[in-house]
Amino acid sequence: MKSEHTETPVTVLGLGRMGSALAGALLAAGHPTTVWNRTPGKADALVARGALRADTVADAVTASDLLVVCVLDHAAVTALLQPVAGQLAGRTLVNLTSGSPEQARETAAWAAGHGIAYLDGGIMTTPEGVGLPTSMILYSGSPEALAAHRGTLAVLGDPIDLGADAGLASLYDAGLLGLMWSVFGGWLHATALVGADGVAAGTFTPVALRWLTTVGGFLDRYAGQIDAGHYPGDDATIDVQLAAVEHLLHAGRERGVDGRLPEFHRELMAKAVAEGNGGDSYARLVDAFRRP
Ligand SMILES: NC(=O)c1ccc[n+]([C@@H]2O[C@H](COP(=O)([O-])OP(=O)(O)OC[C@H]3O[C@@H](n4cnc5c(N)ncnc54)[C@H](OP(=O)(O)O)[C@@H]3O)[C@@H](O)[C@H]2O)c1
Repeated sequence: MKSEHTETPVTVLGLGRMGSALAGALLAAGHPTTVWNRTPGKADALVARGALRADTVADAVTASDLLVVCVLDHAAVTALLQPVAGQLAGRTLVNLTSGSPEQARETAAWAAGHGIAYLDGGIMTTPEGVGLPTSMILYSGSPEALAAHRGTLAVLGDPIDLGADAGLASLYDAGLLGLMWSVFGGWLHATALVGADGVAAGTFTPVALRWLTTVGGFLDRYAGQIDAGHYPGDDATIDVQLAAVEHLLHAGRERGVDGRLPEFHRELMAKAVAEGNGGDSYARLVDAFRRP
């Protein structure tokens, strides 16, 4: 059984939707949890569950050697933490606020200059998913800090170690959100297409989810091709897929469905064919993104 006295004390700065979920997960796992929020009332529910309220940022920082910050953006992190750099020295700062890779590297350099161990993170779930072992939280930055606190951070979600470059968690996060929006867009387009013939989204989606599993297998295969710079076209060529996308465009036109997404895919495929690469596999289109 977990004892309150053996778990690492943690401070959470920022108790919006996400920060409250993070603090709640730490409390639920028995960590002595100190909380601070700019609008103090947002701490009340956590304090009622056993969290310790800090009245000032400085009190919050000195309460624990491990600090988690999750506020709106990079500017808020900077405004919050720069005045307490002295108190942060010798502690570990885990920044789960979304930002750019450049901002993460800037904060990492600032932290290094003040003797603060720094981890940047990307939370790949919504507040409801915090604390579930199926939810990924990406980390990059101090390997020593991650090694020392992996067990505590695992309470928030499965920690994914991206290495010592503090910018990588934000870079992965941005790329993965782009992937999510592309999948949402493709699914919404397909749902509108089949919906025009009376198929409910709830009927179509289980089939779409099976298809995404198959597509995931293609990604595994194509990743190796991209790293090798070799696109053998041994499964389906771009020529074949360019012909197939015409069926999608035709079906959409007949049903009055916005065709801009598949038109973009057709444009990329047609460019590859025009460059003499129609016999290659689809992964060749990475060049279109690398050299727009
Ligand atoms: N929600 C999600 O699903 C999700 C998922 C992944 C990542 N994230 C990231 O998590 C971070 C927080 O998101 P959220 O959903 O918790 O947002 P939220 O509910 O709007 O909360 C924002 C938090 O930031 C604080 N804040 C804003 N400006 C501040 C400042 N200048 N100084 C001090 N505190 C400030 C707010 O304090 P007040 O209460 O005083 O306004 C509040 O605690 C964001 O970077 C977001 O991108 C969120």
